[in-house]
Amino acid sequence: MIKTLAAYIKEYKKASIITPVFMILEVIFETLIPFLMASIIDDGVEAGNMRHIYLVGACMIAVAFSGLFCGVMGGKFGARASTGFARNLRQAMFDNIQTFSFASLDKFSTAGLVTRLTTDVTNMQMAYQMMLRMCFRAPVSMICAMAMAFMINAELASVYLAAVVLLGIVLVFIIRGAMKYFQEAFPKYDELNASVQENVGAIRVVKAYVREDYETKKLKKASQGIYDIFIKAEKQVVLNMPVMQFTVYSCILLLSWLGAKQIVHNTLTTGELMSLLAYCMNILMSLMMLSMVFVMMSMSIASARRICEVLEEKSDLTNPAKPLYEVADGGIEFQHVRFAYHKDSDEAVLHDIDIQILPGETIGIIGGTGSAKTSLVNLISRLYDVTEGAVLVGGRDVREYDLETLRNQVAVVLQKNVLFSGTILENLRWGNAETTLEECKRVCRLACADEFIEKMPEGYDTYIEQGGSNVSGGQKQRLCIARALLKKPKVLILDDSTSAVDTATDGKIRKAFAQEIPDTTKIIIAQRISSVQNADRIIVMEDGYINGVGTHEELLAGNEIYREVYESQTSGGGDFDEKAGEA
Ligand SMILES: Nc1ncnc2c1ncn2[C@@H]1O[C@H](COP(=O)(O)OP(=O)(O)OP(=O)(O)O)[C@@H](O)[C@H]1O
Ligand SMILES: [Mg+2]
Repeated sequence: MIKTLAAYIKEYKKASIITPVFMILEVIFETLIPFLMASIIDDGVEAGNMRHIYLVGACMIAVAFSGLFCGVMGGKFGARASTGFARNLRQAMFDNIQTFSFASLDKFSTAGLVTRLTTDVTNMQMAYQMMLRMCFRAPVSMICAMAMAFMINAELASVYLAAVVLLGIVLVFIIRGAMKYFQEAFPKYDELNASVQENVGAIRVVKAYVREDYETKKLKKASQGIYDIFIKAEKQVVLNMPVMQFTVYSCILLLSWLGAKQIVHNTLTTGELMSLLAYCMNILMSLMMLSMVFVMMSMSIASARRICEVLEEKSDLTNPAKPLYEVADGGIEFQHVRFAYHKDSDEAVLHDIDIQILPGETIGIIGGTGSAKTSLVNLISRLYDVTEGAVLVGGRDVREYDLETLRNQVAVVLQKNVLFSGTILENLRWGNAETTLEECKRVCRLACADEFIEKMPEGYDTYIEQGGSNVSGGQKQRLCIARALLKKPKVLILDDSTSAVDTATDGKIRKAFAQEIPDTTKIIIAQRISSVQNADRIIVMEDGYINGVGTHEELLAGNEIYREVYESQTSGGGDFDEKAGEA
């Protein structure tokens, strides 16, 4: 894990090394100050030597400024190294997410990815900065102060040693307790983010169903979870302070008592006692800081693990060693395909699919919800890999193609489609930035999108809000079809892409396809028989099996499911999924 993360320090290696060096220098200067102070008191004040006071005073100022300078520099480089590290991490995670297959995306929730990219990376940044500065500063400060104290008076210094050991043991217990809770907290953040994201993303649906109360409760539960954990963790952490103070004051008392005795016996000077007290503070403060570093580190271990999961996720859909960069034609063949979403589960969603589709053919796919229509077509553009069997496009296994080539040639208008914020033209050119306006207009005509675009006040420059919230469902679908057409694909798959388009326009789109792109293989998934009845062949899906294949007439004559659906839709007088006779 450390190796994975360390690889992203990259150009900030220098800053990462300079920071601790400055921090150590700062500590050394800091440790000198009580020592000089002792000299001022003993050799200056007590001896009445003004010259000595000026001299050592000037020294002290110089040392203090040097310390300050080192501290500032350490802070500066530390900040640069840690923010740079965070930036690299974030970029690397984002880049890797872009390579994720659909299967990887199923594994990480969107909310989970957002938390990892934001909160977790910020945690790492803080931990890294803390590590660069405190991890070196605290132990060095402790050792220097201890050494100075022993040099001044070994007997009294052993009081610290006892205090350090005692305090150390108590801190370990406190932190162990707190760590447990911090690690529990992060999955809860996912829950909170999921709740916020789902609600904000679907706020219109929430309002339409008057579910605000329910959603608020859900969020409350998630926030309460985090609240509870942090309260528990902080309860442990706050113990740090009283324990620390108790130890410091006990030490001071003990030192003053023992020190006073020694002063009376002339084995210790007042100045020495003063510097000993200052070192006492130094040592225990360092210990305290070290404990905070541990808390921070333990918090960040959970984050580091979650970041590494994203960085190390390898898409199981990889390009072959010698990929093909050319798709011969739009022919498709399924050879005894079995497919399950989870590799190790026995529950396949597609069973023994075996069918050949000719280039330029128009294929309709019909079937109830959950009959695996989407799953079937997702295999063609290799959004998922088959579990058994093979899918061939243009006569070659899809796994032999370069992924980009394949996906450019097999254009899918997904069932859950999205438009991005930007103008209509930008959205259309999203698939191919160099497309001319003429070309864009041509595909919009094909997809019957031109009629409404031209009616808009700004035409092709109309701004589309995020998620396409300012166009209607049918308009969005037509834009998505146009966007897919711009790729000039050999295979065009429409997954329920005209469900929100009226029947007449739907017919017009199909007619345009037949006339203008006759060589493109068209696969049309639909709920309405009218959308597919003119197709060359229609596949009837049921529970992951092919129930029947044939033309409209053949299926009407020989396929029970098809006939039932047809009758329900025609005798119902429209597109309603009612059983025949109920209307
Ligand atoms: N990403 C996924 N992970 C796991 N299971 C899935 C996933 N997507 C779909 N499924 C399951 O696979 C089965 C087939 O789903 P699919 O989306 O292919 O059906 P569909 O025929 O397209 O339905 P619809 O007409 O509603 O679009 C369903 O039982 C569904 O629960
Ligand atoms: Mg579907």
